Amino acid sequence: MAYDAANLSEKSALDAFWLEEAKRLTWMEAPTVASDVSFERDDFRIKWFEDGVLNASVQCLDRHLAERGDKTAFIFEGNDPSACERISYRLAHEEVCRMANVLKSRGVGKGDRVVLYMPMVPEAAYAMLACARIGAVHSVVFGGFSPDALASRIEDCGATAIITADEGRRGAKAIPLKANVDLALERLAQPPKLVLTIEVTGAQVPLTPGRDILWSEERDEVAPTCDPEPMAAEDPLFILYTSGSTGKPKGVVHTTGGYMVYASFTHEKVFALQTDDVFWCTADVGWITGHSYIVYGPMANGATQVLFEGVPSWPDAGRMWEVVAKHRVSILYTAPTAIRAAMREGDEFVTEHDRSSLRLLGSVGEPINPEAWRWYHDVVGEGRCPIVDTWWQTETGGILISPSAKSSDNKPGAATTPLPGVLPALVDNEGKPLDGAVDGNLVLTTSWPGQARGVWGDEQRFFDTYFSTYPGTYFTGDGARRDEDGDYWITGRVDDVLNVSGHRMGTAEIESALVAHASVAEAAVVGYPHDIKGQGVHCYVTLKQGIEASDALATELRGHVRNEIGPVATPDRVQLSPGLPKTRSGKIMRRILRKIAEGQPDQLGDTSTLSEPLVVESLLKGAEKFA
Ligand code: PRX
Repeated sequence: MAYDAANLSEKSALDAFWLEEAKRLTWMEAPTVASDVSFERDDFRIKWFEDGVLNASVQCLDRHLAERGDKTAFIFEGNDPSACERISYRLAHEEVCRMANVLKSRGVGKGDRVVLYMPMVPEAAYAMLACARIGAVHSVVFGGFSPDALASRIEDCGATAIITADEGRRGAKAIPLKANVDLALERLAQPPKLVLTIEVTGAQVPLTPGRDILWSEERDEVAPTCDPEPMAAEDPLFILYTSGSTGKPKGVVHTTGGYMVYASFTHEKVFALQTDDVFWCTADVGWITGHSYIVYGPMANGATQVLFEGVPSWPDAGRMWEVVAKHRVSILYTAPTAIRAAMREGDEFVTEHDRSSLRLLGSVGEPINPEAWRWYHDVVGEGRCPIVDTWWQTETGGILISPSAKSSDNKPGAATTPLPGVLPALVDNEGKPLDGAVDGNLVLTTSWPGQARGVWGDEQRFFDTYFSTYPGTYFTGDGARRDEDGDYWITGRVDDVLNVSGHRMGTAEIESALVAHASVAEAAVVGYPHDIKGQGVHCYVTLKQGIEASDALATELRGHVRNEIGPVATPDRVQLSPGLPKTRSGKIMRRILRKIAEGQPDQLGDTSTLSEPLVVESLLKGAEKFA
């Protein structure tokens, strides 16, 4: 066992364990109860530390001031390598309080939703914590999403305020964040009444009087302290939209007490955190990894972190390793897609920079292939640093399965061991529990404090999505294998969710973007193995009567998806085809489409139920150009 987990399968032992761990936080009123949970339909509820009262921003800021106020919270590494700044916990506290006061002065308060659309600058973290400070619920939308995607999230959560930046910088590119916000708000019947813009690049952006305010003009007008709002443990802390196998993205809701305990606990334990560590998580704050392992976990633990504005490929492919050397990073936490992209550039970009400060490497977001694991271990970590391949999800709030940071003989590609108090199981497609070394669907049989509490505005969808497939358990949507040692290997999604460069995407979302185009009759989207991205997006599209197929139209459709959802969802392949393979009852046979996209035409399986068998021939022919 990687962790010293006493027998935590009994509810009483689990509750005692978590109540003890809850003491890691500074509560306004300490909780006396741990869990009140039932995954059953008639009695469904998930509550942790219910009678506790706290404020998340106090965990991340105030409680460090007395003893380590001058400790560096962030080493901000700008997009431009010459732009670098150290920010102490004391300064972060002041900035957060000021931003909280600005929001308050404009009428934002407890329970209001605030959408953040930000680049990777310290103000992104301040904005999250400023919301937490006044009890507003933040919903960060990744800066790579389009105005449409932004608008639908603002509308879904009913946000009354937006915090954004004039522009973001990513390598040589400027991202027009404020302009995108303006476009998004034009599309809404009831747009938010307040837009706070942080000046990052200083670009001139149009301001709408009465709605738009600038951080530089507001910051000095308000007090540098702000009393934290007392929040019940189960009050929502944030909403984060994520893709599922059907419908629009879901607003996953996390609450305050359990999430904070879990983010702090997992950050300390998984990374075996030491006070002098320099922790660098390369995720964007627009994803759950940025929430839990840039903002809430590390800041609650008073860690020093690198916050990186740029991209790993700019000004050259050595940037990541340059940053490691420059700031003496001791723990690097990144995604397999970044590792594979770096690997392709050749070892020299890595080896020319000093990596002697590194002691631990982490991986997150998608399965890591053994080849990338070994390169990460041998070249980046010089064979000295253990790798923690951490498995978790937006819905889990924090890491659930990970190897130990102390073990030197990790298995390449294995997420390995559940954390204490985490009880995974594998079940077959009928929900029958599977024992021993076996492949199956990964479920969790009990709750943990960081578990999501709901889908914003749709309790039924929350239950149906996660708790109805295998009754009595939380279904992850992932498949996994357990080996002879009892270690877990995540094999990937078993539903129609893609993982492209570690970004989670629903095939249904891309399909609905495609059919929104005037020329498209029908679309089916599947993933296929991609050397760098892990999975690529392959779209099969049939056109409306009278529309002629052409390369130009395929290119236009790629651009169309990009505009509708954002650059993250840009299809790798658009295959215009005369038909899609369907059963006689009209159901698209995705299994066949997957095999064609994967370049495995000899493994199509049973095609006898196809209504028009000839369709497959033409699809195979059309796919040849992608081979
Ligand atoms: O399929 C799993 C994959 O990413 C999914 C969750 O995506 P998201 O909610 O965006 O959160 C990503 C960051 C936690 C999971 O259902 N995944 C995540 N980590 C791993 C992984 N697959 C294999 N190994 C991992 N370490």
